[in-house]
Amino acid sequence: MSREVTFVHLTDLHIGDPAVDDHLFSNTQETLKQVLALVATIEPRPSFLVASGDLANRGDAESYAILRQIMQATDLPVVYAIGNHDTREGFYAGMGIETMATDAPYFHDRVIDGIHIVTLDSSTPGYIGGTIEEEQFDWLAGVLDTHPDLPKLIVSHHPPALDEEPDVAHWRHIACEHSVRLGELLEGRDIVGILSGHIHHDRVSVWNGVPVVVGMGQHVATDILRNDVLRMVRGSSFAIGTIRKSGLSVAFVPLPTDRAELNVYPLELLRQRAAAVPVAAE
Ligand SMILES: [Fe+2]
Repeated sequence: MSREVTFVHLTDLHIGDPAVDDHLFSNTQETLKQVLALVATIEPRPSFLVASGDLANRGDAESYAILRQIMQATDLPVVYAIGNHDTREGFYAGMGIETMATDAPYFHDRVIDGIHIVTLDSSTPGYIGGTIEEEQFDWLAGVLDTHPDLPKLIVSHHPPALDEEPDVAHWRHIACEHSVRLGELLEGRDIVGILSGHIHHDRVSVWNGVPVVVGMGQHVATDILRNDVLRMVRGSSFAIGTIRKSGLSVAFVPLPTDRAELNVYPLELLRQRAAAVPVAAE
């Protein structure tokens, strides 16, 4: 790359209709419009925008159609990933994407302004936590060998597990064994960072030497000061990333918030559901 490249990271858009969705806790359509209006003011103009999953709150095709309509406010190239709240069927139908199999995982890569963007589908239909299917690992192994001269940016709704052993909150990341395998595949590559969401708070980790940037997203914010419950408060943010020869920097742009409580999940309920019943929480 010959110059620095700027991009925007959105995540957990959770587009839906509050009139019919009692698990939609904020006006996500308005938040997205507000965020896109702010994005339009960024100088220099970003090269692309990443939306790293949970694009719709219920995964219905109508919500993706609304998303497409709102996203017309930006003329930036948009790289979409899908998350646990998304459905592959709804996404393909609502976004107008032709596919041979409507239940196929949505993984893809493209080059924009000298950055090789590799997007994974970490969703596991019906479940909260993340996995990477076998066919996707095969694809990833091949695609990482392409564009060897370009820095790579990985997009995955679920961040990788930071520990090699499962913890009590295993629904919060890509399954440990898949995370380890992902780390092995990425080792030795020019990976500038991984962009993720899912856990609904801004967080930066260095994982095997790779920056993992998680955004709060636009629906609700996890109250990280509470460990006894999963408490969601009002809050949203997006991020501006810059890739230089020296690496990645990310600046978070929080929207004003009163941190009003929007919902509380008992942790035990989440553990039981994560173990036994398909459900989408975060
Ligand atoms: Fe989410």
